[in-house]
Amino acid sequence: MAPFIDLSGKRALVTGGTQGAGAATVALLRDLGARVLTTARSRRKEDRDFVAADLTTAEGCALVAGAVGTHLGGLDILVHMLGGSSAPGGGFAALDDEIWRRELDLNLFPALRLDRALIPMMLAQGGGAVVHVTSIQRSMPLPEATTAYAAAKAALSTYSKSLSKELAPKGIRVNRVSPGWIETEASVRLAERLASEAGTDYAGGKAIVMAALGGIPLGRPARPSEVADLIAFLASDRAAAITGAEYVIDGGTVPTV
Ligand SMILES: NC(=O)c1ccc[n+]([C@@H]2O[C@H](COP(=O)([O-])OP(=O)(O)OC[C@H]3O[C@@H](n4cnc5c(N)ncnc54)[C@H](OP(=O)(O)O)[C@@H]3O)[C@@H](O)[C@H]2O)c1
Repeated sequence: MAPFIDLSGKRALVTGGTQGAGAATVALLRDLGARVLTTARSRRKEDRDFVAADLTTAEGCALVAGAVGTHLGGLDILVHMLGGSSAPGGGFAALDDEIWRRELDLNLFPALRLDRALIPMMLAQGGGAVVHVTSIQRSMPLPEATTAYAAAKAALSTYSKSLSKELAPKGIRVNRVSPGWIETEASVRLAERLASEAGTDYAGGKAIVMAALGGIPLGRPARPSEVADLIAFLASDRAAAITGAEYVIDGGTVPTV
């Protein structure tokens, strides 16, 4: 029987692909037959389809876009996984211009720049699939430390929707994956730190994170591989009728319809 998803012959770029949901997505797309170029600032393991770049800069984005041409010779799947936040706590007053710029440079500009550089390649081929990874915070912002991150993801989400309208008639699908808490290596470290501060165990640390989110009805974070599954489906021809959509993967965290 043919596999449900077959990405043989597809060429893909996954940003932020060495850790967390990005690493899981790279591994899955490769398992499904795609040739995957990935990028991050530092290489984690031997990977010949890897290019080191800081995507918060225009130069880094140009370097990666150029590497897509030389390594892959074209592009069918573009997964914008890169994102995150390093803003301090303290609410809106703690967010100065420099922090706002940093959050936008990480969560918005890499996608804009790489899309501008790489979508012409897809247009020339007459097809392709783009996935922007946003966050439930784009509709459920948390004010303590992540207002700027949430706003940057909201901008990314609105941009993605507009792009999907422009590109759908040209054969290019653009969708969003909006995760809630993902149990990445970094999340495990956070839960362990909270646990040790509260004098509890890892399960207790996880419960603290879940409580800060207002609870997760499913009772657990998503696994990186589960986020990868959703992205692989959206990037595949199985999702040929889906564009301009946002898929939330959060165990029910967002409480509203
Ligand atoms: N984790 C969650 O709970 C959660 C929740 C909602 C949404 N999300 C979203 O899901 C996506 C993946 O998050 P994640 O937590 O799985 O990621 P992660 O584990 O923090 O991994 C980040 C990746 O991006 C790379 N990276 C970081 N800064 C970079 C830069 N300046 N230039 C190029 N690459 C850079 C990292 O490698 P280097 O450090 O070597 O550069 C790494 O490969 C993000 O868009 C995030 O906003 C995550």
